[in-house]
Amino acid sequence: MFPSELLTANAISAALFLFTVFPVLVYYITTTLFYRKTNSKLLSKIPPTVPYWVPGLFHGLSVASGPPAYFAKVLKQYGSSAPFVVKAGSISLVVVRDAKHAQKILQASAHMTPKALQVRALDKAMDAPIEALLLYDMIRTGSLEDDHNHSARLVVPHKYLTGPSLSSISDVYLATFRRNLSNKMFQFKTWTEIEDMWSFFHNEISKAVMETLFGPAVMKQYPRLVRDFWEFDSNFDGFILGYPQFMMSSAYTARDRLLGNLWDWLLAAKESKEGLEFIRTGDGDLAPTDDRDSVFVKFPYLDGQARAAKALGNMQELNSNTIPPTLWSIVEALRRPALLKRLTVDISHQFDARSETYNMAAVGAMPLVQSLHAEVGRLRMAARVVRRSEEGDFKLDENWTIPSNMWAVMFSHDLALNTKLWAKARPRTIEKPLEEFWAERFLIPEKPNQYQRYAKKQETDTVGTGRFSMEGLDALHIPFEGGLKLGTSRYFAEAVQAATLAILLTEYELEFSEPEDVEQALPPVREIAYGSIKPLHKIRLRIRKRESPNTKRS
Ligand SMILES: *[C@@H]1O[C@H](CO)[C@@H](O)[C@H](O)[C@H]1NC(C)=O
Ligand SMILES: *[C@@H]1O[C@H](CO)[C@@H](O)[C@H](O)[C@H]1NC(C)=O
Ligand SMILES: *[C@@H]1O[C@H](CO)[C@@H](O)[C@H](O)[C@H]1NC(C)=O
Repeated sequence: MFPSELLTANAISAALFLFTVFPVLVYYITTTLFYRKTNSKLLSKIPPTVPYWVPGLFHGLSVASGPPAYFAKVLKQYGSSAPFVVKAGSISLVVVRDAKHAQKILQASAHMTPKALQVRALDKAMDAPIEALLLYDMIRTGSLEDDHNHSARLVVPHKYLTGPSLSSISDVYLATFRRNLSNKMFQFKTWTEIEDMWSFFHNEISKAVMETLFGPAVMKQYPRLVRDFWEFDSNFDGFILGYPQFMMSSAYTARDRLLGNLWDWLLAAKESKEGLEFIRTGDGDLAPTDDRDSVFVKFPYLDGQARAAKALGNMQELNSNTIPPTLWSIVEALRRPALLKRLTVDISHQFDARSETYNMAAVGAMPLVQSLHAEVGRLRMAARVVRRSEEGDFKLDENWTIPSNMWAVMFSHDLALNTKLWAKARPRTIEKPLEEFWAERFLIPEKPNQYQRYAKKQETDTVGTGRFSMEGLDALHIPFEGGLKLGTSRYFAEAVQAATLAILLTEYELEFSEPEDVEQALPPVREIAYGSIKPLHKIRLRIRKRESPNTKRS
């Protein structure tokens, strides 16, 4: 052989080794290590890393091809060996599946917190300037006292989304949604057909929510707001994982447009009092922007960019967990005639003819509405809950320890569909399979009355009654980020959902145009580990105004 041929032959065999033999070898070794560690009796182990082909790259490429599907695959393949580690880029994630482990993490709210993720989101997704990140990081690590004004907190202050301020926000939402729907010219007798109810209501509810939270000015100035926001939101994890611009350029463009317009809006807001309200409230006496701004004044190097980033953060926190479940509650109410009827009757009892509005606190407190909300969260939302240690290693139990440089991740669907865990926590919850939607799943029934016993005998569908309770189920039900204190956006989501149902069910009549088609459109479970869940195809719906004491003919 000539030297050049020899060289080629060598190169080929080297390439062969590099691209086939070597990865297989690595895969073999990492698989062996994985199971050895899984089965090891050692105490305080760091969870094993899921087998991979290429060192350095680890699971990066597979994750990049779509994290929700990748994690679903990993859960199927290695689920029984949890906890285990997945490495995506510079991030190591410990996937936690055990209810006791989940509970331990969620309860250790000072030790395992979402703050590191929030700071990362501000950095990678909201593009906040470094000065702002340093400030938030100082607050996060406790080296800067977060004063009681709650101004520079990382999340929307709890106080604005609970109690009286929440009810005034939900009244504003109800009025906005009602007014804008009535502008659609739906008729009393004639049905109007809506081709794609999901996108129709997605748009309407999003617009009403944005207007409720940020006031009407921002959307007048920036009509693309809703569209850009959802483009941004649907790529949120891509930002968090640090995907470069070329992988999702339209998301980056939408994000930059959002920030630019929010900045303009905040500048304009300085001149007009109305826009200053960061989160609008009915009586206007709470103005969180003022609070927030006063903190930024204390740190003059925080410029408009920092404030726009924070505004986008709040927008994301309050919208992404609110709109999809609200849409699902409409779909689920319409899928079951008995449920639709019960909700309609019960909610119309809360209508006050004098003020022409609903007692939203009472609607929100109805056990059936609460249970419906919880069930939508369980089956129709798939969240990933991420925590990271603020103070050293975290012991899951005697066997497993999460080191401080790793992130813990739990998937709400993974826990929500685990029949064994639910059966143990409260046997009644699995009277209907967890893969099915059952609005009454979280009700604890009273003794059935005579009518219900009769109905049961007749096999007509009756909607169960009882007391709503989540007792003992907290760690299995984490669509709103788990931990009651942290899931502030949950209360807002509940309020929007209840108000939307109140308007749609009692002031309109709705029905699916092709009910069988709706069943076909329901998404399968366990195909993705997390992410937005929506119908597989368009759902057609008919709508007309209801003639009832609740609505005055106009
Ligand atoms: C720790 O692992 C051992 C077996 O290696 C097992 O018997 C024990 O139940 C585990 N402890 C916990 C808390 O799961
Ligand atoms: C809250 O803000 C007010 C006015 O901005 C200030 O006077 C007060 O000291 C702050 N409270 C705390 C606890 O820092
Ligand atoms: C609602 O309707 C009003 C009046 O027609 C309009 O000015 C406003 O922009 C609409 N808002 C939304 C959120 O669609």
